[in-house]
Amino acid sequence: MSAEAVSPEGVTPGGVATEFVAAFGHEPVGVWAAPGRVNLIGEHTDYNDGFVLPLALPLRTLVAARPAGGGSAVTSLREAGETVRFDAATVVPGDVPGWAAYVAGVVWAFREAGLPVLDLELLVDGDVPVGAGLSSSAALECAVAVALTELAGPPPGVSRPGRTELARLARRAENDFVGAPTGGMDQMVSLHGEAGRLVFLDTRTDGIEHIAFDLAGHDLDLLVLDTRAPHALVDGQYGARRADCARAAELLGVPALRDATLADVERLDDEGSGAGPDGDRLRRRARHVVTEDARVLGVVGMLKAGNDPRAIGPLLTASHASLRDDFEVTVPHLDVAADAAVAAGAYGARMTGGGFGGCVIALCDRDRTAAVTEAVTEVYAAHGWQPPVAFPAVPSEGARRLT
Ligand code: GLA
Repeated sequence: MSAEAVSPEGVTPGGVATEFVAAFGHEPVGVWAAPGRVNLIGEHTDYNDGFVLPLALPLRTLVAARPAGGGSAVTSLREAGETVRFDAATVVPGDVPGWAAYVAGVVWAFREAGLPVLDLELLVDGDVPVGAGLSSSAALECAVAVALTELAGPPPGVSRPGRTELARLARRAENDFVGAPTGGMDQMVSLHGEAGRLVFLDTRTDGIEHIAFDLAGHDLDLLVLDTRAPHALVDGQYGARRADCARAAELLGVPALRDATLADVERLDDEGSGAGPDGDRLRRRARHVVTEDARVLGVVGMLKAGNDPRAIGPLLTASHASLRDDFEVTVPHLDVAADAAVAAGAYGARMTGGGFGGCVIALCDRDRTAAVTEAVTEVYAAHGWQPPVAFPAVPSEGARRLT
């Protein structure tokens, strides 16, 4: 086993294959993997046709798989070895609850798209923490999508779906089978991630550009601090933000907030805008999206021009302030971590992902990473909170077959 093939916490393709044999009594055909992600910048822009700039993590979900007769059986070591069964030919939304809906949803989305499906024996393991906002659900969907497309093959005379098509199918599973109204960022980066590079995605066109992000060459770390904050009210709040953005775009007469200007947005609070008592809130929601798109383009411009990545720090911190004050998706654990990281010498820090808990990222000199982690831990202790879990984010490869 090469060191490269070993995930940081030690989940290996060989180990997953061995567990498959223990669960199903024979060898899998192969092992596939897909990564979780952090988003460098571009938050709550992906459902507004805007820009995002995530990176795939070395943390990933692995699936060992083999075609099966007489129904699908999915066992997850991440769920205490629970096995869930469904029929690939007939499964529909509502049939499969819980974690296995992410698996069955992908099979359903393939079928809905007219792609061949088949029943599988599938064993799931991995080290993307669940519930930390690092897209463990997209990693599971995308690992299943790459496995299924290889095992079921393309329809006669048709080529295999490409990575963007697989990302759309995985998102369809999440939106229409699981019922989570997310944008498409997480699945796109899980499929299009590359070592050493960011994924610059235009969510209107699904156009991708990979941007070099050489942290080691600049003696930098992108530190991830998993706050382990208790998630509260997440589902309803995410949907409420989406609804606010859609309403703001409608009132402004633009297809999506990506098309609005700052001057447009300020009008939302005017009498006669049609927003009524919601004017101030809609103005602030829309202002976050418009300024966040501009920040993404600012970061991309700096990195493409070959600037020292330290230069992007203030844009990261400004993104956090906008998510806190205008979009209102932060919680005290996130604000405290971001502030403490910057006070301890990080060039910039912000929450990453949907918010209401999850992780903060901080850009720091490598020789300050331990001190920044320590500073956040101390402030957390003063609040009586458990310490954050810290690790550096290294841009890594997207979904692929391992064995
Ligand atoms: C969640 C969703 C993404 C995106 C982010 C916020 O992670 O899954 O689609 O909307 O929130 O940027």
